[in-house]
Amino acid sequence: MRFQSQAAVALAALPTVFGITFEGMLAANRYGAAAPNPSGDFAIYEVSNYTFETTESASWWNKLDLKTGEISVWYDGSDISEVVFVGPTPTSIIYINGTNAEEDGGISLYSADANALEDAKLIASLPAPYSGLKAVQTTSGDINFLVYTKAYTNGTAYNEATAETPASTARIYTSIYVRHWDTWLDDKKNAVFGGVLKGGNGTYTFSGELTNYVTGICNVSCAESPYDQSDQSDYDISPDGSSVVFLTKDITLPLANYTADVIYQVPFTGTAEDAVPINARGSTKYDAAQGAATSPRFSPSGDKIAYFQMNGINYESDRTILYVANSNSDDFNVTALALNWDRSPDTIAWSKDSSTIFVSAPDLGNERIFPVPLTAGDDYVPTNITDQGVPAAFYVLPDDCLLVSDSKIYTSRDIYTITPEGELGTKYFQANLVDPALAGLGPEDVTEFYYTSNTSEIQQQSWVILPEGFDESKTYPLAFLPHGGPQGAWYNSWSTRWNFKVWADQGYVVIAPNPTASSGWGQNLTDSIQGRWGSYPYFDLVHAFDYVDNNLPYVDTSKAICAGASFGGYITNWIQGHELGRRFKALVTHDGSTSTLNQYASEELWFMNHDFSGPFNQTGFESSSPYYEWNPLLYVNNWATPHFVVHNDLDFRLPVSEGILLFNMLQTKGVPSKFLNFPNENHWVTHPENSKVWHTEIFKWINYYSGLSNATSPY
Ligand SMILES: *[C@@H]1O[C@H](CO)[C@@H](O)[C@H](O)[C@H]1NC(C)=O
Ligand SMILES: *[C@@H]1O[C@H](CO)[C@@H](O)[C@H](O)[C@H]1NC(C)=O
Ligand SMILES: *[C@@H]1O[C@H](CO)[C@@H](O)[C@H](O)[C@H]1NC(C)=O
Ligand SMILES: *[C@@H]1O[C@H](CO)[C@@H](O)[C@H](O)[C@H]1NC(C)=O
Ligand SMILES: *[C@@H]1O[C@H](CO)[C@@H](O)[C@H](O)[C@H]1NC(C)=O
Ligand SMILES: *[C@@H]1O[C@H](CO)[C@@H](O)[C@H](O)[C@H]1NC(C)=O
Ligand SMILES: *[C@@H]1O[C@H](CO)[C@@H](O)[C@H](O)[C@H]1NC(C)=O
Ligand SMILES: *[C@@H]1O[C@H](CO)[C@@H](O)[C@H](O)[C@H]1NC(C)=O
Ligand SMILES: *[C@@H]1O[C@H](CO)[C@@H](O)[C@H](O)[C@H]1NC(C)=O
Ligand SMILES: *[C@@H]1O[C@H](CO)[C@@H](O)[C@H](O)[C@H]1NC(C)=O
Repeated sequence: MRFQSQAAVALAALPTVFGITFEGMLAANRYGAAAPNPSGDFAIYEVSNYTFETTESASWWNKLDLKTGEISVWYDGSDISEVVFVGPTPTSIIYINGTNAEEDGGISLYSADANALEDAKLIASLPAPYSGLKAVQTTSGDINFLVYTKAYTNGTAYNEATAETPASTARIYTSIYVRHWDTWLDDKKNAVFGGVLKGGNGTYTFSGELTNYVTGICNVSCAESPYDQSDQSDYDISPDGSSVVFLTKDITLPLANYTADVIYQVPFTGTAEDAVPINARGSTKYDAAQGAATSPRFSPSGDKIAYFQMNGINYESDRTILYVANSNSDDFNVTALALNWDRSPDTIAWSKDSSTIFVSAPDLGNERIFPVPLTAGDDYVPTNITDQGVPAAFYVLPDDCLLVSDSKIYTSRDIYTITPEGELGTKYFQANLVDPALAGLGPEDVTEFYYTSNTSEIQQQSWVILPEGFDESKTYPLAFLPHGGPQGAWYNSWSTRWNFKVWADQGYVVIAPNPTASSGWGQNLTDSIQGRWGSYPYFDLVHAFDYVDNNLPYVDTSKAICAGASFGGYITNWIQGHELGRRFKALVTHDGSTSTLNQYASEELWFMNHDFSGPFNQTGFESSSPYYEWNPLLYVNNWATPHFVVHNDLDFRLPVSEGILLFNMLQTKGVPSKFLNFPNENHWVTHPENSKVWHTEIFKWINYYSGLSNATSPY
């Protein structure tokens, strides 16, 4: 077993058995979702890992035999990036080879039989980094496919590797939305392209012609599909190959301050000029439907299109509603299913007979799967057919069972089938039972409790994650982890960035609360955050802490630390200035907000406009304005608890100046503090070598101040 030698020395003295280490977690296999072939005989999924000794990543594809459960390596290499089952037989595939022998930065398409990959045939060479392959066989035997990549304003695909680089690096803007997530925006936008592979029976020819359906839908470069950081879930092709749907932000609104989306339908043989909006604002019988849309999906019967849409026009966390439209531009007849259901479903899989839509939705700390029949009226309340975990994907098999790939706090991947009624079918794979780094992890590591706060009538939930070798008669320091968002939740899922079990196995009991703003307990709890960043969630966290203090005797709250990222970093900064801050021995802020008066330096202005009850120029300078009232910096005089600060250069959501401001103020006040910065990471730390340093430094800090380790100085 590998772990940090310093931590090992320190912990050898404690009666703790080490479970998972951060190096083990970071190096362990990461599994894609198992995608079945059309006959449901087998499924394939991608696996990757990282080896610290060699600093090398590896990736390959596994094949899972759904009849025998046998798992074997299907393709050992990283050049196959995507596979689609399509063609004359249930084992026919088209795959994207992420390399292109002729065109730097391009990709290539191959056809093959999944059982004879060595005979794969090169069928198309595409001169740009296209991805997001969707493909169907038409009655002629041809294959109609969709891919996406960035395009110039004239519609031509953009290939960074071969494009001319201008002499100057200047960027000039005349309207807001200059950057997003970790990228400075320019006039090149994603577009969905369609092409035809002529032929059949595994032999295809490609003319080289691709149709861009998106760029020309408006005469300025305002349409984009998939939208910026999104992916192929933003478009679809009909089962007969005759029709395409895609979504784009509403082209009539400024991008930075609205979330409204419009879904367009266009004939496969048409062009962007033929695209017709399905759900233009005000065009359906649902006047309120004007917000963000996701996941347009054709039914297997081809005559219906399902999608999700929120109401709030500048809110990214409003309740999502499931809609079904006819795939007929004469009468889309958009109809909501289970309109009043107080959950926000976010993934769609149609039943084979097109009568039911399986969706998954955040529900009480898990992401559960629910069948919704097409007959569901406004007041229909779907019933969950799964319980624990968060699916990465699920597929409907020919026998109408679902093949689910999910994760849980104690396992990075479970693969199993369930019946449409929710009975467990076959359990195929459970990572914690096979991956050495996850050895010993199991459901007994995770419990939860509900506590009463003074902000809402409903009880609030918190996860409790126990360290390996947990002994109820002993006490363990508390690791208290507020989540980001603030809309969002701590789910029963595996994370390689905030892996509860890795934190617990340093020797803590991890408390991961889901206070006001959390999703999965109804929209009212989520919405209650608006205008209340420093009040409700803070009160809830105080109540959660008190609950632990009063009810969990095995938690030593006199040795508590608090750590959070993003909004979790904001609330940690808020805690630093308030009473709760004095109950922690150390704090950790990862990419948080230090001065809410700086929130307009972010990219998605709709977020602040919603959460702070209006644009900054309208509310920001009043002391009653949420921008002003909930500013952690106002309480700088109270700051006293040792504070570790992480902030990354490529974080454009909350610019790096927030972390520098926090660190500079802490140092100026003489509060013990340390600053960690990664020039090549965004809001998240994703490179394994950086993540290793992130864990090493943070654990040194909290283990020292919580008293877990007095062998290591945190400096
Ligand atoms: C990572 O993948 C390589 C190549 O398949 C394999 O040899 C190695 O055992 C894997 N490492 C871990 C930690 O699973
Ligand atoms: C991918 O394409 C490269 C050439 O660009 C070729 O050498 C390699 O064999 C291909 N791999 C597969 C699996 O098609
Ligand atoms: C579109 O613009 C790009 C960049 O200016 C150029 O390279 C390409 O040739 C243009 N395509 C057409 C069809 O004009
Ligand atoms: C493909 O092969 C099948 C059987 O071998 C044949 O019936 C069919 O006509 C072929 N289709 C094409 C498009 O060549
Ligand atoms: C876009 O085209 C419409 C007519 O189709 C025209 O009225 C409008 O002025 C054009 N907008 C721009 C920005 O060119
Ligand atoms: C949206 O952005 C534009 C600038 O593109 C600005 O003029 C306008 O006031 C903003 N509207 C709202 C509601 O924030
Ligand atoms: C339109 O949808 C309603 C359900 O809201 C349904 O009763 C009606 O038959 C549909 N009409 C058409 C033409 O599809
Ligand atoms: C549905 O969710 C409940 C918790 O709300 C859980 O107890 C139950 O087991 C779930 N049903 C299925 C079929 O998994
Ligand atoms: C919604 O939440 C607010 C507090 O945020 C609470 O006062 C109100 O009672 C809740 N409403 C319902 C219907 O639960
Ligand atoms: C709610 O509880 C918090 C934390 O104990 C306290 O600071 C706050 O004053 C309480 N609010 C109300 C309205 O009682």
